[in-house]
Amino acid sequence: MQRLSTLSCLRRSLLQTRLAFLSTCPTPTPIHTAKSRAFTVLALESSADDTCAAIVTSDRRVLSNVVIKQHQLHGPTGGIYPPTAIDAHQRNMPHAVRRALQEAKMTMHDVDGIAFTRGPGIGGCLSVGSNAAKSLAAALDKPLVGVHHMQAHALTSLLTAPSASTTPRFPFLTLLVSGGHTLSVLATSLTSFRILGTTADESVGRSFDKVARILGLEWGKRGLGAALEDFCEAEPTTDEGKCDGEISSFAFPHPMRGRLDFSFASLHSTVDRHLALLGRPPTLAEKRALAREFQDAAVAQLCAKLRLALDACAQRGVTVGDVVVSGGVASNRYLRTRLRESLDAYAALSESTTEDARIELAFPPVELCTDNAAMIGWAAMHRFLAGDYDPYDIDLKPKWSIEEI
Ligand code: KG4
Ligand code: ZN
Repeated sequence: MQRLSTLSCLRRSLLQTRLAFLSTCPTPTPIHTAKSRAFTVLALESSADDTCAAIVTSDRRVLSNVVIKQHQLHGPTGGIYPPTAIDAHQRNMPHAVRRALQEAKMTMHDVDGIAFTRGPGIGGCLSVGSNAAKSLAAALDKPLVGVHHMQAHALTSLLTAPSASTTPRFPFLTLLVSGGHTLSVLATSLTSFRILGTTADESVGRSFDKVARILGLEWGKRGLGAALEDFCEAEPTTDEGKCDGEISSFAFPHPMRGRLDFSFASLHSTVDRHLALLGRPPTLAEKRALAREFQDAAVAQLCAKLRLALDACAQRGVTVGDVVVSGGVASNRYLRTRLRESLDAYAALSESTTEDARIELAFPPVELCTDNAAMIGWAAMHRFLAGDYDPYDIDLKPKWSIEEI
């Protein structure tokens, strides 16, 4: 009864905030008015190996964004070891929540709703964030919303676009490139997504991680994929040694040419095969050449499949003016440059000669490309404002297609 009356009160007071949100979404006009107060969400994310808590408002402010990484724990095992990840989430989540509130200069009483990642992800890891969110929501009588992790990656650009004119408009195409997924998806609304291409084997992020490991690179502050990118970009040193001609001139495969689906396993096994054929430890110059060839092949594949996805949309009569790229790999600078060039070339080939042929390309800022809770809070916002809450006993969905939201 108490919960019902508090929540219905909240609903009434939210009506104006919701109208303001809907009228501006996806146009990022601030909605501060004398009459409406922004809705404030505390969001938790723990689907893989980062423990995250953030506070986000309906007028697109990220008041805090705490990410506690676990890579020192998983480095030795070469991947996420679930029991270790669960333990670390359990240790870190209280600190993440505390810091998120402190950095936002808030208490729980200033929070209007609590969001968490419902799936997809590692079941035991998801349950840490979900249990924390449910307990906080129930104890404090706040509404609760469970969020799809990939939907949150796809919608991040609506939160972070710098101006109304650069905010992606539906329908847009989104390339979701992370450690768990490689997807091209047509987004037609905040909740409707159609998968056009997915990976036939492993994700592009996992492939970056494997190659970085094969080449003996160390986890930097930003993880193995970013370490590989930095290694490719670095100026060669004077003591790099010679590079075998076979390695510097070797062409990587183009898996599933002409098809929308992705495949990355053959790229890292090409690196493996080359090192085996060499029959001796590679020089630094050879490692760098292999790293660059690999990154080039992975990025070329993402560019080619994105163009195919745009063709597929056009064949269905859907005009796409915006492409949103998100997920950890979207922070890769080389990918950002090559995708822009690729879309410009695609537009130049288009029959239309008008300015409209240009396809806008949106990337969230790097800190919101990799896993974070700000995106979870933002993806929950439209549901909070619509009064569409989840019950406190809602289940988790470790396997959950973005088409089934
Ligand atoms: O989205 P994310 O943080 O977590 C998942 O949902 O998986 O993505 C993590 C993945 C990792 O595989 C990581 O190596 C990769 O994104 N990644 C990168 C870069 N930064 C992160 N890959 C290539 N270049 C980067 N700069
Ligand atoms: Zn992710």
